[in-house]
Amino acid sequence: MATTALKTIDEALLARAGAAIRDGALVVMPTETVYGLAGDATNDAAVAAIFAAKGRPRFNPLIVHVENREMAACYVSLSPAATRLADAFWPGPLTIVAPRRDAASLLASAGLETLAVRAPAHPAARALIAAAGRPLAAPSANPSGAVSPTRESHIDRSIRDAAAFVLDGGPCDIGLESTIVKVDGEGAAILRPGGVSHEALEAVLGAPLAEAAPAETPEAPGMLKSHYAPHARVFVGRERPQADEAFLAFGPDAPDHPFALNLSEAGDTSEAAAHLFDYLRKLDALCAEKNLTAIAAAPVPDTGLGRAINDRLQRAAAPREQP
Ligand code: TXA
Ligand code: MG
Repeated sequence: MATTALKTIDEALLARAGAAIRDGALVVMPTETVYGLAGDATNDAAVAAIFAAKGRPRFNPLIVHVENREMAACYVSLSPAATRLADAFWPGPLTIVAPRRDAASLLASAGLETLAVRAPAHPAARALIAAAGRPLAAPSANPSGAVSPTRESHIDRSIRDAAAFVLDGGPCDIGLESTIVKVDGEGAAILRPGGVSHEALEAVLGAPLAEAAPAETPEAPGMLKSHYAPHARVFVGRERPQADEAFLAFGPDAPDHPFALNLSEAGDTSEAAAHLFDYLRKLDALCAEKNLTAIAAAPVPDTGLGRAINDRLQRAAAPREQP
């Protein structure tokens, strides 16, 4: 895709970048923490394109960037404690993880029941959200495993190629990712330290933060197997389902089946990723409704987002821990 790096972010440019977002394209945007690779958080295909551009081996949930608390409240339900945090630190480097509503892409939250939201302070990020009129899903704009970019010149070629626009907002003021805090009713825990300090959070909460989860066990998909597993059993790598199974099909040659959803008739792994969590939920509901015994998932090639899809399917199929 043709990419323009732009030195001046004016209204006309923002209007074009905002329209590109509405069309499902990606835009590299500056924030006060690090640069982000942004796409429409309500569009599964745009979110899949973000994962593809980052080359993420699995679906890590993304932060959804909003203008303010009112906009956040369309996508998550904010408890009184979460509301106090938003009022104290937004716009700014605080991400709040809270129970999700249905309006945002399920892929953005990687199938979790929670969603991460943040109102960034950088004027270009705020202006882009306003111009798009959409919440923006945006991970740091680096290939998976690489360091987060804090200047336009840090943006990798592969990320540029995936973006319709690269907005140059100068060096990031904070240069370190946002603090992520998970708020559960009145309790709160830091999932990732960052731009807002522990002390500053506790001062606003008026209570100590819960013990932070160890850095190696983030609440990301794959870490919490059972969190993502559907109720029905899942079998992977099945060319054909049995009559009493639901079928998660893939590709143009899928066999006909009365209880099937095809992740991508074209055999496109990005399209498949965009449908994955939604279809797993739908087939799970179908299993309950029609008394089917399991979800049989067709083989998906390990190319592009196929790796992340297979990672997710393997986990859904793994033996369940007994409660
Ligand atoms: O400063 C930042 O936060 C930057 C800018 C662009 O806003 N973004 C950023 O995104 O660092 P990313 O994708 O590189 O890191 C987001 C982190 C991931 O580690 C992810 O696991 C976690 O947020 N996360 C997102 N949603 C979550 C959820 N629902 N529950 C727990 N962790 C979540
Ligand atoms: Mg990152």
